[in-house]
Amino acid sequence: MTVTFGEVDATPTGPGKPAELPPVPDGAIMVTVHIQRFNPEIDEAPHKESYRIPALPTDRVLNLLHYIKWYIDGSLTFRRSCAHGICGSDAMRINGRNRLGCKVLVKDLVTDKKTEITIEPIKGLPLEKDLIVDMEPFFDAYRAVKPYMITHGNEPSREWIQSQHDRDRFDDTTKCILCACCTTSCPVYWSEDAYVGPAAIVNAHRFIFDSRDQAGQERLEILSDAEGVWRCRTTFNCTDACPRGIEVTKAIQEVKRALMFRRV
Ligand code: SF4
Ligand code: SF4
Ligand code: FES
Repeated sequence: MTVTFGEVDATPTGPGKPAELPPVPDGAIMVTVHIQRFNPEIDEAPHKESYRIPALPTDRVLNLLHYIKWYIDGSLTFRRSCAHGICGSDAMRINGRNRLGCKVLVKDLVTDKKTEITIEPIKGLPLEKDLIVDMEPFFDAYRAVKPYMITHGNEPSREWIQSQHDRDRFDDTTKCILCACCTTSCPVYWSEDAYVGPAAIVNAHRFIFDSRDQAGQERLEILSDAEGVWRCRTTFNCTDACPRGIEVTKAIQEVKRALMFRRV
């Protein structure tokens, strides 16, 4: 089946009747998007399908996925919500690197000579369909570190004051949006699924170093066991992958140091 837009032919390979295509905007270029597809109801293994579509250099990868889903193959399945880098739901591997589909621009992926973009699901979590993986093991690890404020004793009668210095200690790790880009770029996580992974450690760090929290030692205990922080081999993949710019490996090192000296 061949779909035509403007003067260019696109040959969608997925099932489904194409909708009427929108006009090609001025300045659009043709890109070929290779997407890993997998439908557990009919496929025995994942395979690649390719779509040649028009794109503006300022389009985001998420726009390309929408274009394919809305106009070429409605069965294409992926997660997204905010489309603005906030919700963390559209982590995927784009040209081999973990990124958020809504934050990566076409112009940063293609050149005059290379107009191909590869999109695959993140690695290390069970594949469900197309770009969707089962996030439960990721959230299990997150929940295991008790990512919420814990205090003991009587309810305070007035606000708890925190100095700017104390607030700064965990400022970086408050930015996490739980997208899983870090954990699913970690070679240790790929090979040893028991490892809690960097995102869980980042979220433990956020409370361990909060002067108002009183369960830091409890979290350190959790992270000191066989599946915890010592499995990290400091390869920095996680820091490179984080779309929020969090210094993930540094946070992991701070947790290791707190464990070694048993002092936060
Ligand atoms: S620094 Fe540690 S947690 Fe991060 S990717 Fe490397 S091994 Fe994994
Ligand atoms: S630390 Fe960064 S990469 Fe990891 S889950 Fe949080 S926002 Fe995503
Ligand atoms: S869709 Fe929400 S972060 Fe990309």
